[in-house]
Amino acid sequence: MNQVFTQPVVSCTISDENRQFYADVIEGLKAEPKRLNSKYFYDANGDKLFQELMNCPEYYPTDCELEIFSEKTAEICDALIADGDAFDLIELGAGDATKSTYLLKYLLDKKADFTYLPIDISDNVISYLNITLPVTLPGLKITGLNGEYFEMLKKAASISPKRKVVLFLGSNIGNMPLDGAIEFCRELRNNLSEGDMVLIGMDLKKDPRVILAAYNDKGGITREFNLNLLRRINRELHADFDVNKFEHYPTYDPETGACKSYLISLQDQHVTIGNEKIGFKKDEYIYMEISQKFTIMQTDQIAINTGFQPIGQFFDTKKWFIDAVWVAA
Ligand code: AVJ
Repeated sequence: MNQVFTQPVVSCTISDENRQFYADVIEGLKAEPKRLNSKYFYDANGDKLFQELMNCPEYYPTDCELEIFSEKTAEICDALIADGDAFDLIELGAGDATKSTYLLKYLLDKKADFTYLPIDISDNVISYLNITLPVTLPGLKITGLNGEYFEMLKKAASISPKRKVVLFLGSNIGNMPLDGAIEFCRELRNNLSEGDMVLIGMDLKKDPRVILAAYNDKGGITREFNLNLLRRINRELHADFDVNKFEHYPTYDPETGACKSYLISLQDQHVTIGNEKIGFKKDEYIYMEISQKFTIMQTDQIAINTGFQPIGQFFDTKKWFIDAVWVAA
């Protein structure tokens, strides 16, 4: 059958779960200007690099938020407990749950009536949490949900009618451009009921040099973190990126608060991905990631414009980061 021979080769070699990845990569690299989606940074290698990043001296957001969670545990939990009814504590993108563990421990000590529902796109993360957390936190009720945020939120609502408290930490919201972040909060609100709560971590505007340094660390981990996506595309999508022919270029615009990173092609070159060939001009860039920074006022505005009422603000001593409490209005 002729059909067989005209089928793209790639359909035989790319795994089912990578089909969307492939489609997104090709679409992004055929676009003008070129872009890749930073959500694909997090394969096993990317997870490891992000862990390293969190430990490097220039990358301050994790330290700031950890300070907030360790120093303001009681105040945060009291805000979330509200009038003491039973609730579901849902975490979007739980990762290793280091920060939320502060809250979980305190809530258990206080004998708060809650179930912890971590949601993560990585099934590794979810099975790890399901196994380890009940050991480190005896008495914890946990139901890990593996999948997309809003699908899993709907699932959480369908398995329990309890009040929802959603944790969205680490300034993950900053990985969306501002209008996308607002749309995301609106959709989050649509998946919640009046009286439900959100604890959201957002990185604040500050000395532009401090911000830029955090995305341009001397050890070159951020660089590797970006280049790893090209390596991942090589590994999983049968591509032939030469990462030495791309340079990491981070930027921060103090006016808009947009911290963006690019990979710049160091020469005219072609890259083969599956059965596509993509051309790069010398100095052409791939837009890799945005890490939006906010003013305190902006964080309130986002809440109000998306159907929430801001009711609490927690800061680190330097006021570099905010964890805000919002109630669904
Ligand atoms: C995990 C999305 C919060 O944007 O600061 C770190 C990812 N990128 N260094 C961030 C990241 C480059 C990080 N977030």
